[in-house]
Amino acid sequence: MQDLNVVILAAGEGKRMNSGLPKVLHSVGDTPMLIHVIKSAQELNPTNLIIVYGHGGEIVKAEVDKRLPNNDFIWAHQDKQLGTGHALKTALPHLSSSGATLLLYGDVPLIDALTLKEMHNKYDDNVVMLTANLDNPTGYGRIIRNDQSQIISIVEEKDASQSERRIREINTGFYLLPNKYLGGWLNNLSNQNSQGEYYVTDIVAMAYDESVDISYVDARHTYTIMGVNNKLQLEFLERIFQTKKAEKLLEAGATILDKSRIDIRGQVSVGKDCIIDINCIFEGIVALGDNVRIGAGSFLKNVAVNNDVEIKPYSVIEDAVIGVGCKIGPFSRVRPGTKLQNDVHIGNFVEVKNSTIGVASKVNHLTYIGDSEIGSKVNVGAGSVTCNYDGKNKFKTKIEDNVFVGSGTMMVAPVTLGEGGVIGAGSTITKDTPAHELTISRAKQTTVLGWLKRMRK
Ligand code: UD1
Ligand code: CA
Repeated sequence: MQDLNVVILAAGEGKRMNSGLPKVLHSVGDTPMLIHVIKSAQELNPTNLIIVYGHGGEIVKAEVDKRLPNNDFIWAHQDKQLGTGHALKTALPHLSSSGATLLLYGDVPLIDALTLKEMHNKYDDNVVMLTANLDNPTGYGRIIRNDQSQIISIVEEKDASQSERRIREINTGFYLLPNKYLGGWLNNLSNQNSQGEYYVTDIVAMAYDESVDISYVDARHTYTIMGVNNKLQLEFLERIFQTKKAEKLLEAGATILDKSRIDIRGQVSVGKDCIIDINCIFEGIVALGDNVRIGAGSFLKNVAVNNDVEIKPYSVIEDAVIGVGCKIGPFSRVRPGTKLQNDVHIGNFVEVKNSTIGVASKVNHLTYIGDSEIGSKVNVGAGSVTCNYDGKNKFKTKIEDNVFVGSGTMMVAPVTLGEGGVIGAGSTITKDTPAHELTISRAKQTTVLGWLKRMRK
């Protein structure tokens, strides 16, 4: 295998984003654009990967290292943005003497590995361009061909004649370039053009003059070559990205009631016969088993959902494992560190955090369960709270199998409710309770006879 160097241009400031964040760190599908590009490039197993950066360099580096730790990317700083040719030249010291260089852009996020591989397959010590035919080619460099239909040069729109502007075949800006010529070509670029920039595109005419073969791949989908200069374009690509993600899930057999009303900002896998209602958001890694139903407006982040689970509308579930046959929601909040064993029911306005709940236990209404270990077949009545925090430290509540906790019970941790016990409604439990007994702690109810009559006199 010949050397393959990848250069990603990421020096742009992105003024039109109207943002403090460097342009290439703006996200599509919750992943910075630059990371998308790096990941596509990595599928070609390049010899090295060079990122040309400028504005906000340290922030860009830090984010890349956070997302892709232990990488060995090379960072080349471009002090002034003097054009795409100048930017590529910044990477020249890191390129191999033979093999090829693939030029990519940190603000063209949806370039796909399949297209890049197609370009790589056409590489034979030649120039391989990625081109496209657009109904509206405005703004792009145009491909100039001779009467044998060979590509001979690229003309930038700003330098193009009226007739050249009518050409609909455009330069996407992606190329594979042979390293043995590249240094010479880059050193010969001039900035005598309408923008006073060093254009990498001028390399194509140089290659033609030196009889280096110029071949091309026609981009399959225009979204793969679209760049982002403002938030409108970012949103446009976000919606395309989301549609593709939804279509993949549909192909995998999920029922999605409206593919334009789902957001997948991570990876979702589905078993058979899953149904996802509208306006659900998925982040991180979400794995759904067979026959899982997810109600409208639910949010799931890093969740493993086992078979036959029903998540009713507007539930928020994060860093949790949901056992077979569980029913959750509507309006439930399941927070990190929660493990629900099989057939657990978590109802409306119930918050569960860092807790394990055993088989067939029910916590159905208006309750907080935090730092708890709940056994099987436990019933926690409405409005009960595990008081796990004294303002400084967190303590554990343990509820053993078959306990019945009456409504409105405060369980002041650390505390253990013994197996099979019953806690009277409205109790405040501060000490461990015995197994198989009724424990109740509430003030005796009294009626003050005649009080009302006396008051009214
Ligand atoms: C470039 C191509 C044009 C092509 C179009 C496709 C040139 C001269 N023209 O035009 O033929 O149709 O892309 O989108 O190459 N950058 C740097 N440093 C620089 C200059 C640019 O990092 O000094 C980065 C920019 O941040 C941007 C990318 O390179 O991400 C493209 O640069 P830009 O000057 O915008 O080129 P276009 O005018 O889009
Ligand atoms: Ca541009």
